[in-house]
Amino acid sequence: MKVSVLVGSLRKESYTKKITKEIVQFLPDEWNIEFVEIGNLPLYNEEYDEGTPPEEYVQFREKMKASDAYIFATPEYNRSMPACIKNAFDVGSRPQGNICWVNKPAAIFSVSPGQLGAFGANQHLRQTMSMFPLDLMKQPEVYISNVAEVLNEEGKVVKEGTRDFLRSVAESFQKHVEKFYEKK
Ligand SMILES: Cc1cc2nc3c(=O)[nH]c(=O)nc-3n(C[C@H](O)[C@H](O)[C@H](O)COP(=O)(O)O)c2cc1C
Repeated sequence: MKVSVLVGSLRKESYTKKITKEIVQFLPDEWNIEFVEIGNLPLYNEEYDEGTPPEEYVQFREKMKASDAYIFATPEYNRSMPACIKNAFDVGSRPQGNICWVNKPAAIFSVSPGQLGAFGANQHLRQTMSMFPLDLMKQPEVYISNVAEVLNEEGKVVKEGTRDFLRSVAESFQKHVEKFYEKK
């Protein structure tokens, strides 16, 4: 199973990336999990698709189409998803009629050092997903709040309850993906 992970933060020390890494460690060893670079994608401009698109677009689109499942993990900037991940969705949704995310399973996580778990970003991301025919995992919803309190310096989850929850998220995602491919 090839799973592409998009994280809406370009920070090396991103909490969102750390939490997502903690989740995916509970997925089967034989699954191929890739955190895909999105910070290199030029800001989307429709004119790029009128000629030869940037090489970064070509590679990103190929990688998305070749994936079996997706994880979209986002922090919150001003009550929405950061521009880098919205840009990635815009790039992958064009040229028109050629969306990268079609008929595959996916999950959305949001993470914040604040108390609301990036709920606003999570919901905006879901709204964007309404344009892509993906099979989104419905439960559990994943809003990780107060994230600085659950991670140690090495980026490992120190709170047992949170760790158990992250394991249950991975198990649910695994079931969601397997069920999707059983039905096909
Ligand atoms: C431009 C900007 C806007 C932000 N707006 C919010 C916000 O609306 N809600 C929130 O919970 N945190 C907000 N924050 C704080 C981020 O949650 C925090 O920087 C977080 O660490 C970013 O995620 P990361 O650690 O994965 O990079 C904002 C940060 C920045 C830089």
